[in-house]
Amino acid sequence: MARLAVDPSFVVGALDRRLFGSFVEHMGRCVYTGIYEPGHAAADADGFREDVLALIRELGVTAVRYPGGNFVSNYQWEDGVGPKDERPRRLDLAWRAIEPNQFGTDEFVAWSRKAGVEPIWAVNLGTRGITEAVQLLEYCNLPAGTELPDRRVRNGSKEPHGIKVWCLGNEMDGPWQIGHKTAEEYARLAEETANAMRRVDPGLELVACGSSNAGMPTFGDWERTVLERTYDLVDHISLHAYYEPKDGDRTSFLASAEGMDRFIDSVVATADHVKALKRSDKAITLSFDEWNVWRQQDFPGELGLDIREVSPLIEDVYTVDDAVVIGSLLITLLRHADRVKIACLAQLVNVIAPIRTEPDGRAWRQTIFHPFALTAKYAGGTVLRTEVAGGPEVETAQYGRVCALWSTATYDESTGEVAVFVVNRSETDAIDFEVPVFAGHQLVEHLALNDDDRTAVNTADDPDRVVPRQVTGTNVANGICTATLPPASWHLIRLA
Ligand code: AHR
Repeated sequence: MARLAVDPSFVVGALDRRLFGSFVEHMGRCVYTGIYEPGHAAADADGFREDVLALIRELGVTAVRYPGGNFVSNYQWEDGVGPKDERPRRLDLAWRAIEPNQFGTDEFVAWSRKAGVEPIWAVNLGTRGITEAVQLLEYCNLPAGTELPDRRVRNGSKEPHGIKVWCLGNEMDGPWQIGHKTAEEYARLAEETANAMRRVDPGLELVACGSSNAGMPTFGDWERTVLERTYDLVDHISLHAYYEPKDGDRTSFLASAEGMDRFIDSVVATADHVKALKRSDKAITLSFDEWNVWRQQDFPGELGLDIREVSPLIEDVYTVDDAVVIGSLLITLLRHADRVKIACLAQLVNVIAPIRTEPDGRAWRQTIFHPFALTAKYAGGTVLRTEVAGGPEVETAQYGRVCALWSTATYDESTGEVAVFVVNRSETDAIDFEVPVFAGHQLVEHLALNDDDRTAVNTADDPDRVVPRQVTGTNVANGICTATLPPASWHLIRLA
């Protein structure tokens, strides 16, 4: 029997709803034939697919980062504003694709209003710099009266877009990034760009680029160098991580949350080291603005791509196991709610995405849609600390010996509801599990995602092959909730 300790007095922190963010990049079919497809039967007058918007609202996404990703590092935002028939077709060097520029800044803001999400903007610090970042900010956020906001008004947006969160470039440590930089080069540019942007609008939240992933040779040193320069000017440092079963090692893959947990701990430690060096009272928070499962071993790399028009790119089809891992990664983000303030599932539609579409056809939910949607819907206002006592451990090649159960819980003061999220990462053992309930609480429901066929997927023809199911047999008696958690499974237990 594994017992979960949870108590309303043991608090991690208030949940920032931007933890349920996502990411739209001009890449593959994320924008074109994903969120934007004029002529589609479900398109509105702006060309935004209403069927996709409905799924995005159901997914519970709160914020969306845009326009890249690697794309942003060679993007000229001016190409994407103004009359559509005057916008240039341009070669995007990041993905070697022809960018038609029919969807740009004003379209994304209009789309995000319809989707009910907060837009998060990344500026190009690869091929461009301070001037262009400031000009884009002026275009977006200043009231009419000077050249750039006047241009926005002429383009149809009278009111400022009011974009609060800005990312200072993307993955600037990566040699694949157009205009990639050493830590010191980037730190200076980020410092000066942040300084200039704050003169336009001191109320912005700025995100400095952290490492592209924890495996980069400069990881740790990069964060320190960047924060030493920018500590007082930025609010967040970014983290990116993609997980996949390497060499068929599904045991380690199921424990990916362990990798994310350690990554977050390391970045927090580095940020706090700089805090100590600076004798600062300010804590830098984390923007985990790209995370997902991505089978990168199947990707030929940018240089393996022929130059082409909008066409499919990394449209991974997600399995049951992938959904369980996504659920466990969300648990990790919640467990760090005191320091992680923004997180973006990368990406939103078609490109390694919870939502898939056919051009001129259907839209459907991938397996990973479900744990995300349920977590976004039911995670309440405060994240509580949880500890597991008892229960088996799992030996993994990548992370060593880990507890089979991975959990968190939230407490919604407004409804009194407790939501327990737990994953069984053992591939072999069903685990009997119990959790003490708060006074007077009963079981509302127990939902689980697992399947005898862990490789099962959802497709256009069978879009509901993998869905969460109600679990029977879970009970509350004598103040204890008991349940059985099958191998390789994700769970949401609601108590109120
Ligand atoms: O999300 C796909 C790509 O992964 C992004 O463009 C880049 O930032 C990351 O390497």
